[in-house]
Amino acid sequence: MRRYSKTLVFFLSLWPIYVISYQIIFNQLGPEPVDRIINHFGEWTLIFILLTLSMTPLKQITKSVEWIKFRRMLGLFTFFYASIHMLSYVGLDYRFDFEPLINDVLKKKFIFIGFSAWLLLIPLAVTSSERMVRLLKQNWKKIHRLIYIIGIFGVLHYIWLSKTIFFKPLIFLIILVILLLFRIKITRSASKI
Ligand code: HEM
Repeated sequence: MRRYSKTLVFFLSLWPIYVISYQIIFNQLGPEPVDRIINHFGEWTLIFILLTLSMTPLKQITKSVEWIKFRRMLGLFTFFYASIHMLSYVGLDYRFDFEPLINDVLKKKFIFIGFSAWLLLIPLAVTSSERMVRLLKQNWKKIHRLIYIIGIFGVLHYIWLSKTIFFKPLIFLIILVILLLFRIKITRSASKI
């Protein structure tokens, strides 16, 4: 089973694609299909950020390094879904008309922070290979800590677009804070050794 766990996680990670394809094929996107597609991928991007951040705490809790082998794949899926989310907004909402889009990025703070989060994901995706880990050594770790900033930006983006804190953004915020506290705890215990 362990041999196939990565393949299994890969196919499970495609779940958001299966769901949206089903809804498109069976005409179940509701009255605002474009918003539905954008929001679907936005929410899944945030879920994948949290999943990626959970791997190290899970390693500590279960004392098994197995979790770490999924981390890179989950991180790349985060970038994949963030890019579909962004492209569906640019392509379906604005039909690739960049002028009003740039206006949105500069004027609406929730778009600005979402876009910043997506930009920050690029160096992580580019440096995700084994070769880059070896090449960048200690700097690789520093670059990949950006995922915490991206998580904070992603949650802020959700809170700001929801105008006030509603139930779902609040749940994401609580999970993110727990994961950040875990990170601080792990760093502190490592520095004591
Ligand atoms: C890491 C990057 C990002 C994350 C985690 C993220 C997350 C989200 C989430 C959770 C939602 C709400 C989903 C819901 O209501 O169910 C959302 C909506 C949205 N996002 Fe993002 N997003 C990101 C990047 C972007 C980028 C780059 C853009 C555009 C440049 C963007 C534009 C939007 C828009 C227009 C909406 C819909 C707002 C509405 O309902 O009126 N997001 N995003």
